[in-house]
Amino acid sequence: MTYESITVTPLTPTIGGEISGVDLTKPLSNQQVDELHAALADRLCIFFRDQPISHDDHKRFTNYFGGAHIAPSTAPWRVPGHDEVTIIHADKDSTFVAGEDWHTDMACDAEPPMGSVLYLHTVPPQGGDTLFSNMYAAYDALSDRMKAYLDGMTAMYDSIVGFGGKTPEGMKLPRSSHPVIRTHPVTGRKAIYANRGYTTYIEGVPAAESRAVLDFLFQHVQHPMFQCRFTWRPNSIAFWDNRCSQHMAIWDYFPNTRSGFRIQVLGDKPV
Ligand code: SIN
Repeated sequence: MTYESITVTPLTPTIGGEISGVDLTKPLSNQQVDELHAALADRLCIFFRDQPISHDDHKRFTNYFGGAHIAPSTAPWRVPGHDEVTIIHADKDSTFVAGEDWHTDMACDAEPPMGSVLYLHTVPPQGGDTLFSNMYAAYDALSDRMKAYLDGMTAMYDSIVGFGGKTPEGMKLPRSSHPVIRTHPVTGRKAIYANRGYTTYIEGVPAAESRAVLDFLFQHVQHPMFQCRFTWRPNSIAFWDNRCSQHMAIWDYFPNTRSGFRIQVLGDKPV
């Protein structure tokens, strides 16, 4: 890829790119927006440093990619007056953090977000990295026999997994049927979509077979060959494509504080 209005420095050959040459506290030019779309398609997750953005800056940035996806299940963590913005926070009083296992965001929704834009203003002295894994590479690494077996299969994606398998009283948890392997609407490439954070069973096969195949896939997608690891600094931003990557947040910094805001970007029904 060649870029004229931004600079993209790859993190690994497979995934991740650090972007420089943009100031996200200000509106971007059309060329910058086009090149960021290209960088996201090429690198799957892109990172920015030294961007002390406001909620309005954060929303303007996501609008360049289609606007905000407001997931019903984020209601308890929304910023008052900014429904699009979810608080991502952990400190000495936390008993759990968001996204501690491999997943792609809100796969339980009928139309999951295409991406997520996470801004952290406060980070621990060490730790709190986020891992990202390339689901095209994970799909490409399967045998042709396994690809043929999985293509066309669907699975249940259920937010109950994040609640430890129990529906909290008074809540109706979202769940949706989606493909196990999805085709990216922009690149046309196939990617593994089944993920440990949401996928409960493959439809149309015996339970034991579904369990064995999912366990294989969950293990397979976390191979280090497919990954990059992003180390946060204050005022960093990560923007990842949920349609072709999975990620997990590492909570190795207790009792320190890690804090910021996330907006998810509108997507469509996986096919
Ligand atoms: C998430 O899964 O959206 C949170 C990721 C993180 O906190 O690094």
